[in-house]
Amino acid sequence: MSRPPASTLTVRQVRGLGGEITVPGDKSLSHRAVLFSALADGTTVITGFLPGEDCVCTMRALQAMGCVIEADSKTRLIVHGIDGKLRPPLEPLDCGNSGTAMRLMAGVLAGQSFPSRLIGDASLSSRPMKRIVDPLRLMGAKIEGQGDKHTAPLDIQGGPLTGIEYTLPVASAQLKSCILLAGLFANGTTSVTETTPSRDHTERLLAHFHAPPVIDLNPESEAKTIRVRGGTRLHARDFSVPGDFSSAAFWIAAAAALPGADLTITNLGLNGTRTGLLSVLLRMGAHIHEGISDSSCEPFGTLRIYGRKLRGTKISGEEIANVIDELPIIAVIGAIAEGDTEIRDAHELRVKETDRIAAMATNLRDFGVTVTEHDDGMTVHGGSPLTGAKVASYGDHRIAMACAILGLFSKGETTITETACIATSYPTFEEDLNKIATFHEGGLGGWLSGDR
Ligand code: S3P
Repeated sequence: MSRPPASTLTVRQVRGLGGEITVPGDKSLSHRAVLFSALADGTTVITGFLPGEDCVCTMRALQAMGCVIEADSKTRLIVHGIDGKLRPPLEPLDCGNSGTAMRLMAGVLAGQSFPSRLIGDASLSSRPMKRIVDPLRLMGAKIEGQGDKHTAPLDIQGGPLTGIEYTLPVASAQLKSCILLAGLFANGTTSVTETTPSRDHTERLLAHFHAPPVIDLNPESEAKTIRVRGGTRLHARDFSVPGDFSSAAFWIAAAAALPGADLTITNLGLNGTRTGLLSVLLRMGAHIHEGISDSSCEPFGTLRIYGRKLRGTKISGEEIANVIDELPIIAVIGAIAEGDTEIRDAHELRVKETDRIAAMATNLRDFGVTVTEHDDGMTVHGGSPLTGAKVASYGDHRIAMACAILGLFSKGETTITETACIATSYPTFEEDLNKIATFHEGGLGGWLSGDR
């Protein structure tokens, strides 16, 4: 997906954060809602869809395979499901910057009766796809990437698949979902076991679309096995996407760390496989009130965050998968807090939209923060005076937004370059900041330039 030319954002130190906001729809759920409703029979209305570039890639790929999707606003889609009968795409399917689009789509395409090609931007084309190629080949798929890591473009021949029993070698919801989706088009049963919990949106949404997987929990090892039967059909059912916890994370963390802040976030996704940041912040001394108003298909509700001085903590082991997208903002909060914040067991951060360990360590140092980089994470030595800096996003939306938040706590001005990437997940980030922030000079309107 092509982007507007490079852009920059400039922010300055914040005086207060407060009021009430909602954030755009959840990215993981928007991908799955449009994909599952396209595969279903019947018509599904999706509200709260995230019109970010990543999810639009998934939507366009489905349209290119014969699914009719009407958008009567940017966030409300009417999806006319095709009951699993995809048509061969005439051109390569462009997944843009989105690992979720590519890995989930590969699972669906592996078992079709036609060939397809998945392509992505430079960042996505450098990310490891071997993790999906290996199990799909075990199922009988003919799929080929580039080089040892099987990076994109991915060429998929399409053909019959057979169910497998597979234990995930890495905690990844994208990998889990890829195999389960391939399993819907395979002969027999496909089972996926995860030893570390990853986000469970695929399991929940399969159930929502009337195709509940069978789930076994092993009480001794805490491993979870998810089984789907080949040929299971999905059936249309309207779905409302709650706000994205990973987008709200920037405001939650900033408000928690700013003494005097009082911020309320409503209609927010509060699925427990995503909200590990709240436990991290509570350990750091934060004051947060969580109210879950509905816990059916996907739990959602309201958070109220009161600002305080925070202290460092350690994040490692099983907790990492739950906060995987929040680690850049956790590193930022570590810089603002007193003492050390240590992130370990987070090797996966090196293969996200960029190497997020290297990118955050470099950028934090530019703000005057002392950081020790580890192979699997970093230790942020917090509490030093912070000075605004000019830093790069490395084309990664979460690096750009995390550094904008650090700018709110830093003396002087902070400029982040290459910020068009923010539109992959949070197109209204800048607008929302201006809704909730007050600044030292000049009152509201913190962005000195939003030069897009
Ligand atoms: C996602 C899973 C995570 C996450 C990504 C979205 C998903 O990736 O980082 O932003 O929607 O399944 P992994 O599953 O590779 O950890």
